[in-house]
Amino acid sequence: MLLGLLGHPLGHTLSPRMHRAALEHAGIEGMYVPYDVPPVRLESAVRGLWALGLRGCNVTIPHKQQVLQWATSLAPAAQATGAANTLSFNDSGFVADNTDVDGFLHAWRGGGGPPLNGARVVVLGAGGAARAVVYALRKEGSRVQVLNRDRARAEVLVRELGGEAIDVLDLQGATGLVNTTSVGMHPQVHATPATLPDSLQGVTVCDIIYNPQRTRLLDDAEARGAHVIEGLPMLAAQAAAAFRIWTGVEVPVAVFLSAARPSPAPPPPAAAPLPPPPG
Ligand code: ATR
Repeated sequence: MLLGLLGHPLGHTLSPRMHRAALEHAGIEGMYVPYDVPPVRLESAVRGLWALGLRGCNVTIPHKQQVLQWATSLAPAAQATGAANTLSFNDSGFVADNTDVDGFLHAWRGGGGPPLNGARVVVLGAGGAARAVVYALRKEGSRVQVLNRDRARAEVLVRELGGEAIDVLDLQGATGLVNTTSVGMHPQVHATPATLPDSLQGVTVCDIIYNPQRTRLLDDAEARGAHVIEGLPMLAAQAAAAFRIWTGVEVPVAVFLSAARPSPAPPPPAAAPLPPPPG
C-alpha cells in the first residue's frame, strides 16, 4: 500500500515515522513517502499520485485549503472547515477529509479535558488549525470565543463556523483555552500567545504546538493551577484517524505517539574494564 504526504517545506515532519510504525504494527506491506511540492505543482502532484495508484496521502502546510478544489467529494469535516489533511484516492479521484477535528477531540478527552457540552472555550488564532478546533468544539456543544491578532479573520471564521470573536482574553468562569497560533513554536520557544491571569484553577489549557512538546504557554498555565494538555497526542490522533480511513485498521494512538516522540538518548558506554594489575 502506497501512502504519502504533500507539503512545502517538509523538513520538520513526524508523519513518515508515525505511519511507517503503524504499517508495521498492522502487518501491512507499504510505504509512506513525504513529497515536498511547491504550490504551483500541487495540482499535477495530486493527479500524479492518483495516476500512480496511491491509496491515500496527508496534506499539510501550505496546501490544506487549496487541495479541496480538485476533490471529487468532501467528507463533512473538510466541508465544514474548508480544509483537508487526509485524501483517499479511488477510481474516479479522491475524497478529502479533515482528521484534525477528531484528533483534537481525542487528545482533549485522552488528556483529561472536561466535558465540552455547554462549556465556554476560548480559541487563540483563526487560521486553518483554528477552523478544525472551532468546528470540533461547536460539534460538541461548546460556546466558543475566538481571539486573533487580526480580528477581521476571527470574524470571518465565526461567521462560517459559529462562535463569537473577542478582543480581550477573559478566562473568568471559562472551561478551556486552546492555542492554535504558531506563537511559541520552535525556535521561538520563549514566546507566548497570551498573558494569563494569576489563577487558572479549574481551567484546562491545551496547546496544539508539538515542537516543543511543552510550550511556554503550558508551563505558565500549569504554574497558575491550570490542567494542561500537550500537542503531540493530537498529532498522533489525527494520524491514527487518517490511517484508519485508508486501511480500515484501528492502530492504537499510542503506536503513533511513541513513534513521534524523540527516542531517548542512548545510555552512556560502559566503562572500559581496568587492565589487570602488573605482575
Ligand atoms: P495554521 O493553518 O497552522 O493555523 P495559519 O493559517 O497561518 O496556520 O494561522 C496562523 C495563526 O497564528 C493565525 O491566527 C495568526 O494570526 P493572524 O491571523 O493575525 O495572522 C497567528 N499568529 C501567527 N503569528 C502570530 C504572532 N506573532 N502573534 C499573534 N498571532 C500570530
